[in-house]
Amino acid sequence: MTKLVLAPISRVPGQVQIELEIEGGKVVRSKVAGTMARGLEATLKGHDPRDAQLLTQRICGICPVAHGIAAAQALEKAFGAAIPENARVMRNLLLGANFLLTNIYHFYQIALPDYVHSLPLAPFTPGPAITPTLPVQANAALVQHFLLSLEMSRTVQEMLAVFGGKMPHPSAVVPGGVTENADAQKVTAFRSRLREVADFIKNVYLPDVHTLAWYNPQAFAYGAGAGNLLSLGAYPLKDGLRGQPEFYFKSGRYTNGQPGEVDPDKIKEEFRYAWYEGDSFQSEKPGAYSWVKAPRYEGTAYEVGALARMVIHGHSGVKALGDKAFSAMGRHIARAEESLLLAGALDEWLNQLEPGKPVAVNLNPTPLAQGTGITEAPQGALLHRLEVKNAVIHNYQVIAPATWNASPRDDSGKPGPLEQALVGTPVPDTTNPLEVYRVIRSFDLCLACAAH
Ligand code: NI
Repeated sequence: MTKLVLAPISRVPGQVQIELEIEGGKVVRSKVAGTMARGLEATLKGHDPRDAQLLTQRICGICPVAHGIAAAQALEKAFGAAIPENARVMRNLLLGANFLLTNIYHFYQIALPDYVHSLPLAPFTPGPAITPTLPVQANAALVQHFLLSLEMSRTVQEMLAVFGGKMPHPSAVVPGGVTENADAQKVTAFRSRLREVADFIKNVYLPDVHTLAWYNPQAFAYGAGAGNLLSLGAYPLKDGLRGQPEFYFKSGRYTNGQPGEVDPDKIKEEFRYAWYEGDSFQSEKPGAYSWVKAPRYEGTAYEVGALARMVIHGHSGVKALGDKAFSAMGRHIARAEESLLLAGALDEWLNQLEPGKPVAVNLNPTPLAQGTGITEAPQGALLHRLEVKNAVIHNYQVIAPATWNASPRDDSGKPGPLEQALVGTPVPDTTNPLEVYRVIRSFDLCLACAAH
């Protein structure tokens, strides 16, 4: 048996260390550790609850919109505010733009350098040694598109600034609604950029993912994991506070091939192997190995992210992949298909903005309250739980996507989703564990979010 410790790992936001045990040329056991403690939840205690949506956005510069929305929702639930239609639509537009930004960025800047021969500069160096699988011209096109993706990132950031004020950490999402007015000029500014990005997704990004998949069929054969998926649902289609929310991306679970519903109250964080005791840090805790807790739904580990959303949404292209969807390559296809779907939806939702109509309601804080905010970040399910006592934040809990995906073992010793997905991954050369990196980066991990 060979032991391999990978740390630090580039092209993963935040700090992660991965320990592998290798036997017969394959991973037989893995440990995923978040090696950075952050403590944002502790920082929130004692703050005015209305600060939560500004402060929690600082958990992450990649997916701040989702944190802002989840926090605003938690406050709206706590204090009984129903946001106007314009706010619901504008939040969907902001969240959708953040998804497009992240999905494009993830494929070209995080994942692609594990597959192509490229320019001798970052993020391609330092990197694993690649045996070329793509024809020279296809390889060159992908590298060219990597450069184009940087321009697209700028364009999507501009979309986010139109309604969000700025990016990262848009200031427009507030508890009670949004602060930007919907006017025709902004709609046009958003739409013209959206059309450019949608064109890129349809004609460049999605074809690129399929080209990569075509020349790397082996990447469908590893990285599966247990195949249990969870989505909390995102993009409310009508006001979620009046009756049951109806989501464009539905909430649901997929357990051993069976669909099921999600009750957020059944999500519990376990921490036998994490450096915590309750809410306090325990860095000397015996047996613990990560700053990431282990969220479980009725004791089961679930993978979250685009693959979960697309399977639960019933996306035909992802469905058509069958079991191959559960793989290092399958996750990239799910992300690209999701992007195309969302680009179309955003164009329609733009028409639902009503210039001149209200964008926010007043929030009437009470000294004692609690609320939960649920949405999806690009990287997967996101949950914020808020407890207010004496008019200040008494307790705040965030369960971020990578808290699920990069979780350590739980109280019963069962590994987290990435730990499961790494088992079985081929390691033909322990000095260049390329396939392992491909599996790690097929999850859109954010350890900054996971450890928060
Ligand atoms: Ni993040």
